[in-house]
Amino acid sequence: MKVGVFQFCPKFGEITDNLNRITEALVKTDADLVVLPELCVSGYQFVSQSEVRSLCEPVPDGESVRRFEQICEEKPMFLVAGIGERDGNVCYNASVLVGPAGLIAVYRKIHLFAEEKNWFEQGNRPFQVNDIGTARLGMMICYDWIYPESARSLAMSGADIICHPSNLVLPYCPDAMITRSIENRIFTATANRTGKEARGGKTTLDFIGKSQITNPEGDRLVQFGTDEEGIKVTEIDVKLARNKRVTPVNHLWEDRRPELYS
Ligand code: ACM
Repeated sequence: MKVGVFQFCPKFGEITDNLNRITEALVKTDADLVVLPELCVSGYQFVSQSEVRSLCEPVPDGESVRRFEQICEEKPMFLVAGIGERDGNVCYNASVLVGPAGLIAVYRKIHLFAEEKNWFEQGNRPFQVNDIGTARLGMMICYDWIYPESARSLAMSGADIICHPSNLVLPYCPDAMITRSIENRIFTATANRTGKEARGGKTTLDFIGKSQITNPEGDRLVQFGTDEEGIKVTEIDVKLARNKRVTPVNHLWEDRRPELYS
């Protein structure tokens, strides 16, 4: 299976323009699955609630999911993308899994970072795994990485690959995801953005790029630089994530001692 991550610098508020750039990149790829960054069509640094609402979209009837469905049907391929979701009056920092037959799943970010708490409701549904036939996919978004429980929940629910749309500003995540891969014996695909945002007189956000795909051994199969843009694709053997044997006598799940964990 070929998995890719797409790294770019979205233009704040320019949903159609960002979708055009995403479409242009995706139509050229031979990947079966591509992960895109968090809030990849809206941009990240909001300055008002009305701005958030105007840039969040109903799912699946908003412009972005409809465009993603069109791309996935035409290729055919699967993609995971971070978007702002508007459900009635409530906005979520969400990600969508879309395939050739349309929208498959929506994840609402559980652990909100910094100012996101002003703009979004916390995710209200558990971590969930979706089987797309070639792999079982889990979604988490950016800062969810700092809670090992996020990746653990997905891995224990059977995820082979964690799809991880991100807008990282802290430096720690790329290394932390290596540990998430090893401790759960899974693949991870972190798609981050590049560039800066400094809106409404706020502190500049400097996005770190460094998107990557890791394997269950903790190797980086692909890695971007800070300002690099484009899609990088790697072939992965999903079976590696289904072998939870660490040594001939150690099994990752069977050796757990939950009765002694608090
Ligand atoms: C983040 O969760 N966007 C840092």
